[in-house]
Amino acid sequence: MDHQVKRIGVLTSGGDAPGMNAAIRAVVRSALARGIDCIGIRRGWNGLISSDFIRMDTSSVSHIINKGGTLLYTARSDEFRTVAGQDRALATCKLLGLDAIVAIGGDGTFRGALALSRRAAETGYSLQVAGIPATIDNDIGCSHYTIGFDTACNTAVECIDRLRDTMQSHERCSVVEVMGRHAGYLALYVGIAVGATAVLIPERELDFERDVVEKIRRARLAGTTHYMVVVAEGAGNTMDISRRIHEEIGIDPRVTVLGHIQRGGAPSSRDRETASRMGYEAVKAIAENQGNCVVSTQEGHLVILEMEEALKMSKNFQMDRYQILEALTNNCGAI
Ligand code: F6P
Repeated sequence: MDHQVKRIGVLTSGGDAPGMNAAIRAVVRSALARGIDCIGIRRGWNGLISSDFIRMDTSSVSHIINKGGTLLYTARSDEFRTVAGQDRALATCKLLGLDAIVAIGGDGTFRGALALSRRAAETGYSLQVAGIPATIDNDIGCSHYTIGFDTACNTAVECIDRLRDTMQSHERCSVVEVMGRHAGYLALYVGIAVGATAVLIPERELDFERDVVEKIRRARLAGTTHYMVVVAEGAGNTMDISRRIHEEIGIDPRVTVLGHIQRGGAPSSRDRETASRMGYEAVKAIAENQGNCVVSTQEGHLVILEMEEALKMSKNFQMDRYQILEALTNNCGAI
C-alpha cells in the first residue's frame, strides 16, 4: 500500500546555480498545497549530518524567485560520502520524521541522495529521494537542461560584450576563461552567442595550430583587427594559451577569467520557469510514491526518470554546434 507522505526535506548541494531559489520556492509551496510539511536542510548534506534545518512555510520563500544563490546555503560534503556520515544524516531524517528529500544540485548530489535512500532501506526506514538538476555547467548526463545554465550564459555574454568594446578600440586579442571543469557547454553556447574567433572545450583535443593560430590568421586576413578566444576552464590554461598566441602570432593578448561571476545574479526567465516546474513535479512524484527519481528535461519536456537509471545515463556532447561555430568563424572570419 502507498505510504502517505507527510513531511519532506529540501536541500541544495554542490556549486550554486541561479534558479535554485526558485526551485526551493516551488518545492515548499507545492508541498504545502498538498498538505505536506516542509523542512529546509541548510548547507547541503552537511546540514542533515549536523541537524541544521529550518521549518519552511509559504512566507519563508517569498521574494526569492528573482534572487541568485540559495537561501538554504550549499556545500560539498566529504563526510556524507562515508557510511558513518550517511548514518548520522539518516538519524536526522528519523528525528524529523522525513518521508522524502528533494535534493537540488548536480549528479554528485543525486548519488548522495540514492546512497542515503538505500542506507535507509537497509535499516527498514522508507525515504524517497527526488533530484532536481541544477548546475551552470549543464553537465548532468540524464538531463538535457540544468537550472542555471541559461543565466550563466547570459552573464558571460554580457561580460564578453564589454570586453569586446575595449578589444575593438585597442585592436587586441582577448582570451576569456568561462567555467566548465569537465564540460564545454557554457564555452560553446557563449562562443556562438558572441561570435568568438575560437572556442576551446574539453570534449575536443586541442590542436593549437588548427584551433587557435589558424583561426586568428583567417580572421586577420578577412580584415578583423580584434579577436575573441573563449576557453572552457577544463580545456587548458588561459595564461599558457595567451603566451603561445604571443609567441606564434606576435600579438599580445589580454586574459580575463570570468570565474564565479558566472554563478551569481538574478536567474533568467527560463531558469525561473524551469525551476518552478521541476520543483512542482518533484513534489508530485513524491506524493504519488514514485520512489527515487530525477526530474529531467528531455527534448524540452519534463520527464520523471528512475534515479538509478538516470545516474547511468550520459548525453552526447553537441558537436554539431561546434561545427556551426567553425563554419561561421572560418567562412566570414570576422567577429
Ligand atoms: O558548479 C560548477 C562549477 O562552477 C564548475 O564550473 C567549476 O569548475 C566549479 O564549480 C568551481 O567550484 P568551486 O565553487 O568549489 O570553486
